[in-house]
Amino acid sequence: MKTHQNFTIFYLLYKGKIKREIYKGGFMVNSKYAPLLESFTFPNGIQLKNKIVMAPMTNFSSNPDGTVTDAEVKYYARRSGGVGMVITACTYVTANGKGFHGEFGADSDEMIPSLRKLATSIKEQGAKAILQIFHGGRQVPPQLAPNGDVVSASAIPAEGEGKPVPRELSDEEIQMIIRAFGEVTRRAIEAGYDGVEIHGANGYLIQQFFSPHSNRREDRWGGSVEKRLTFPLAIVDEVKRVVSENTNDPFIVGYRFSPEEPETPGITMADTLVLIDKLAEKNLDYLHVSLNDFWALPRRGVDDTRSRMEIIQERVGAKVPVIGVGSLYTPDNVLNAFEKSGIPLIALGREIIIDPDWVQKVAEGRESEIVTKIDKSKQEELVVPDPLWQAIIHSPGWFPGVE
Ligand SMILES: Cc1cc2nc3c(=O)[nH]c(=O)nc-3n(C[C@H](O)[C@H](O)[C@H](O)COP(=O)(O)O)c2cc1C
Repeated sequence: MKTHQNFTIFYLLYKGKIKREIYKGGFMVNSKYAPLLESFTFPNGIQLKNKIVMAPMTNFSSNPDGTVTDAEVKYYARRSGGVGMVITACTYVTANGKGFHGEFGADSDEMIPSLRKLATSIKEQGAKAILQIFHGGRQVPPQLAPNGDVVSASAIPAEGEGKPVPRELSDEEIQMIIRAFGEVTRRAIEAGYDGVEIHGANGYLIQQFFSPHSNRREDRWGGSVEKRLTFPLAIVDEVKRVVSENTNDPFIVGYRFSPEEPETPGITMADTLVLIDKLAEKNLDYLHVSLNDFWALPRRGVDDTRSRMEIIQERVGAKVPVIGVGSLYTPDNVLNAFEKSGIPLIALGREIIIDPDWVQKVAEGRESEIVTKIDKSKQEELVVPDPLWQAIIHSPGWFPGVE
């Protein structure tokens, strides 16, 4: 009898079934990857079932009126069963902030049912749902901007051929956009999200105000590095004010930024340290570094041979949890990133599109089955909406497997 039981246990372990059950219960045993799957508790008390986050990724698949499509809801549901937290694609806070065809909207109360549909599809699978809130600024394609009116901090186009010259926002318009970030936060609360992420990265409006390239203003919104921080910090304050007035429950507020810009003038690593010092005083729940390469080195502005991630973690990690990201494809890549940088949360972007079961495979001891290159014959199985799929397979070098 005993031998039989032992055999049964051995067989179930071999099949990964015991691990699977244990993982569903919320913990993992006996794997070198256990640190990836430990739960994580934010200072506000919200707990994630593990330390892997789905990075925010635009999917170009919403309806022209800004509501989410069923295809996009299914894409999220397919990817929300393993990770601890899903950060949605960016959503525009005002009509003139829509940066992509097929981007979903949050700019009016009519969008709340659509926003709720998305939050529910994520939460039903067990992940926390974070809405990424955004204004595209000078990166908005003129054909998407109402009356072709592309706006930014100053009338300076982005670098590159054929980029539109934006119109400089008035003081009153700037205040309206700040309030719009607050309004979207209220909608996110009503729609059932666990939090919002302020998109201050990747060269969009919030970064445009911080950047000496795009912000040449001489009023209270521009000038010194401190004055260029006025707009980003006013958005943080407004979002936090709205949270405190609209819910008594803990609600996550994160901030994403890009360390450095390639342009000169442009944000340097020294500027980034000023930004994160200020953000770390704001009682945010996390800071999310946007990078394509987790181990990228600073370009300029600091005398330091370590990676940007390590510098950032050392600078503010004791005050606010940091999320790292960037070309981490295997569990070993992720484990190494955790161990070497000390960063407590890791986001995966392309990997979760390529293999939606990445976390489950780690949890079940099937890490050797993780796929790290997109299989171009598997769109349906991977549940990727057509506009995103077309973008992936027609952009050589963007996703591994598309050369
Ligand atoms: C299809 C796609 C869409 C993206 N859209 C966004 C976005 O809406 N907001 C954002 O902050 N970053 C966006 N990113 C950047 C990712 O969040 C992430 O930082 C980047 O892909 C590097 O991580 P990875 O190597 O794990 O993919 C996008 C990336 C991809 C691949």
